[in-house]
Amino acid sequence: AEQKATNVHWHEGEVNREDRAHLLGQKGATIWFTGLSGSGKSTVAVALEQALLREGKLAYRLDGDNVRMGLNKNLGFSAEDRTENIRRIGEASKLFADAGILCLNSFISPYIADRDIVRHLHDEGNLAFIEVFVDVSLDEAEKRDPKGLYKKARAGEIKNFTGIDDPYEAPVNPEIHLHTDNMTLDEEVDIIMAALRQRGLLS
Ligand code: PPS
Repeated sequence: AEQKATNVHWHEGEVNREDRAHLLGQKGATIWFTGLSGSGKSTVAVALEQALLREGKLAYRLDGDNVRMGLNKNLGFSAEDRTENIRRIGEASKLFADAGILCLNSFISPYIADRDIVRHLHDEGNLAFIEVFVDVSLDEAEKRDPKGLYKKARAGEIKNFTGIDDPYEAPVNPEIHLHTDNMTLDEEVDIIMAALRQRGLLS
């Protein structure tokens, strides 16, 4: 994105990331859930947050619907706005991760390029980025239709609805691939917890 801020310089403090990791007993990271509306992104993130709390680990969730009520309330669902939505969330998430928090992001984030920008942002900052593909068939998502949005999209009352008349680009090589059509929530949480442990983020 365009850089309008010039003559700005990063300011280092006296407390660093290692100090914060030591204080919290964990390493910050971004866990990025992507998938169709109704795939269960938020449900998995909520359950994961609870599982982490039980182990004394601090997580914080950023969620499409919620963030669009505040930080991103000036954005709609055009391709440009979705890209800007993900860019802002990516930057915010990087700050949480740097702070030492496990940031759990649930956004459709339909474009590979946008997710890759966020991944790159984390790589540059030496922060873990774990992409979780919450994979559901369109059939199943539409059957669930928890908010009645697919029905409205089919009726033409919502335009540019992901999966109906707007694209969803599935991850090619996600760190974690959840097949939610035939997995339990507990199994999904266990898989992610194991991945966090394996990467040394929980100590
Ligand atoms: S995106 O594509 O990542 O910018 O979208 P996100 O910020 O995750 O917001 C998705 C939620 O917004 C509601 N909604 C729509 N989704 C997709 N397409 C259109 N046109 C649309 N309009 C509104 C919908 O409730 C999504 O919530 P989830 O939780 O994904 O079902």
